[in-house]
Amino acid sequence: MQIKKVGVAGCGLMGAGIAQVCAEAGYDVLVREVSDDLLKKGLGKIDSFLAKGVEKGKVTAERKQEVMGRLRGTTRVEDLKDRDIVIEAVVENLAAKRELFQALDPLCAAQTLFASNTSSLSITEMAAVTKRADRFVGLHFFNPVPLMKLVEVVRSPLTSPEALDAAFAFAQSLGKQPVRASDKTGFIVNRLLVPYLLDAIRALEEGAGSVEDIDKGMVLGCGHPMGPLTLLDYVGLDTTYFIANIMFDEYREPAYAPPPLLKRMVLAGRLGRKSGQGFYTY
Ligand code: 3HC
Repeated sequence: MQIKKVGVAGCGLMGAGIAQVCAEAGYDVLVREVSDDLLKKGLGKIDSFLAKGVEKGKVTAERKQEVMGRLRGTTRVEDLKDRDIVIEAVVENLAAKRELFQALDPLCAAQTLFASNTSSLSITEMAAVTKRADRFVGLHFFNPVPLMKLVEVVRSPLTSPEALDAAFAFAQSLGKQPVRASDKTGFIVNRLLVPYLLDAIRALEEGAGSVEDIDKGMVLGCGHPMGPLTLLDYVGLDTTYFIANIMFDEYREPAYAPPPLLKRMVLAGRLGRKSGQGFYTY
């Protein structure tokens, strides 16, 4: 089955990035948000990313126009019914995701592929509410989606080999370098990244070094593009706290237990870049 029409549910940080890379790859893209206001904001993010690309000389003004021309928005779930693949990037909440897939399942054609961009919830648990569990995969993109090359293509025990191959080829068609992962909480990257980020907070709590020096240590000592505390601010402390709790619930390993400082910062509304204050001030 050929994928031509892509549906993206959710146009937040991840959904907007996913919609953008799909439109850049030449797909006809329809993005659904719950309100006109959120839709406008989401499409605005794509427009300003491409505008920055034009400023930097990475993208031509014509190319920007061409990409934006392949993107449309809607607030109606029903409008996604003619899509060949629907990628879900709504709030990281199992009930919300299951509700969306349950609504989409009877609307979309039997061969339509369903994908979730979840970073920590179970693909199997989402697939189970549909009648197409064999055509249900995880497609986990990384932030910032237009720049990060990786996509984790996740199979549940119910995913057919054909659907997994189709999702893998689709990720490649976006110019990404996919890897296959099984439906184990955190997949590959977050399973390794989350304990590292939490350990950086523990190192700070224990006085191993200052915020700046911990980050500088990992940037200059290990060649990472960002130090762990900068990355935490970038990803969002609330998001990390949420993922860590889900992983701790799943594995019961102390490595995934959110440190007290993370919890206090989230409670205090210090969420990182998005709130203007995290380990750094923005
Ligand atoms: N349009 C086109 N190209 C653009 C662009 C734009 N608007 N903005 C930037 N670029 C290009 C740049 O020109 C540059 O290209 P070049 O290498 O050919 O010169 C490249 O993209 C990198 O951009 P910048 O030079 O502006 O930025 P940096 O070099 O500072 O890199 C970064 C920014 C890519 C964010 C880098 O710091 C990085 O990789 N950070 C780590 C991010 C990370 O780890 N993300 C994963 C988070 S975990 C996650 O998402 C999982 C979730 O489940 C929690």
